[in-house]
Amino acid sequence: MISQTLREARKYEEATEKMISGDDRPEFHLSARVGWMNDPNGFSFYNGQYHMFYQYHPYDNIWGPMHWGHAVSGDLLHWRFLPAALAPDEPYDRDGCFSGSAVSLPDGRQLLIYTGVIKERQANGGFSEVQTQCLAVGDGMDYEKYEKNPVLDEKALPKGASRYDFRDPKMWKKNDGTYYCVAGNRAADGSGQILLFASPDGFNWQYKKVLAANNNRFGKMWECPDFFELDGKWVLITSPMDMLPSGFEYHNGNGTLCLLGNFDEDTETFTEEHNQSVDYGIDFYAPQTVLAPDGRRIMIGWMQNWDTCNFRTQNISWFGQMSLPRELSVQNGRLYQKPVRELEEMRRGKVVYQNVAVSDTVRLEGIKGRKVDMELVIRPEDIGEMYQKFAVRFAQNEKYQTSLSFRPRESILKIDRKFSGSRRAIIHQRRSRVNSRNGELKLRIILDRFSVEVFVNDGEQAMTAIIYTEQQADGITFFGDGALRMDVVKYELV
Ligand code: FRU
Repeated sequence: MISQTLREARKYEEATEKMISGDDRPEFHLSARVGWMNDPNGFSFYNGQYHMFYQYHPYDNIWGPMHWGHAVSGDLLHWRFLPAALAPDEPYDRDGCFSGSAVSLPDGRQLLIYTGVIKERQANGGFSEVQTQCLAVGDGMDYEKYEKNPVLDEKALPKGASRYDFRDPKMWKKNDGTYYCVAGNRAADGSGQILLFASPDGFNWQYKKVLAANNNRFGKMWECPDFFELDGKWVLITSPMDMLPSGFEYHNGNGTLCLLGNFDEDTETFTEEHNQSVDYGIDFYAPQTVLAPDGRRIMIGWMQNWDTCNFRTQNISWFGQMSLPRELSVQNGRLYQKPVRELEEMRRGKVVYQNVAVSDTVRLEGIKGRKVDMELVIRPEDIGEMYQKFAVRFAQNEKYQTSLSFRPRESILKIDRKFSGSRRAIIHQRRSRVNSRNGELKLRIILDRFSVEVFVNDGEQAMTAIIYTEQQADGITFFGDGALRMDVVKYELV
């Protein structure tokens, strides 16, 4: 039942994990058990707990033949590793089990759908990867690949659709008990599109239509789609490759796109109304959502970026982590994200300061650390005399610092991790235009050893970045150019 390839991966990860100390990992972000991790896969609630699978190459800290790693959690913050769930061990997926998703079947089993990859030799001697969609059924621990795999291949594709870029199926169950699935693809013009498929039982799949077409607007190939109803709207999230910036949106090249609109279920027609970046920082890609038992729509992304993930210290035993789980909502025609409320259970040691005058550099007793939940409210001392700049610096000592700085006159919030211990001065800054009235701004900053996630104005925008800074750099300071006031509520997260 369990292939030799999977057995070996399980043996390897179990033995190698013991060599990684808990202090060398994030505390409440899921990281690779060993080796390499990318996209979240199969994010689901099954048999009383959350399951997270992930793109996984256990044998090295760089991308390689894709397995599915596996972890479970009761609160989305404390994760327990389970044995790897899938390995590239069949003729139709021998070069990789790429991203996919999970649903519960009526008989109590869990169904996984993923992209099987095989390399095909081309006329010029090179290789291209043929991608098909495959199934595996299991009990939350062991999964058996379906004997009729692949269940979707080029025969299912509309005219002109690429058989090489056809991946990342995200399926969900409809109210009537049948299933839908969206997958990323490329149309004849090379531009991304999201295809919609339907199935009566999760096993037999039929192509329905092009749900959304890029038409060369947002990058090229669209990866890792997710599609769901939220607060009376429909949300299509996808991760386009090679996006060009447009104003203050889409600065991330390989980034995340949210299309908000309406979906007519009778005609299966999605009408776009609004587009925005999902994250305005540096490291966030390929997010996937789950519908929690209490109705919350929760999203987790890969907290990395394909453009920079190769510039890092070489001698590490794991690479790749997931973002915080974020509760989504639609407000004022925008996608909002907040850290899951479960995080509040981890808060200890509340420190409060109110109306602190910040001009020049300010250090506050009790405000430091690398596992931190901190809320800041900033406002000018005097509206008639707007300050020039506010900054908060963290993961700081004599050598290092990462900063967030805000210029109220331009309403620009900048993240800068130039001094955060990476091997090269590569992409280290992102700027985002934020909503600020009269120089007021609200920030929530979450640190977890190797990352920072910033939630602006109660979740109106998020900015995420990985940092590699040594843990002794735990200083936090504030800076004002001009006269401003600040409220601080800070907790340690344990
Ligand atoms: C996105 C992605 C997916 C693919 C997977 C391969 O980061 O390129 O499209 O399924 O990673 O690991």
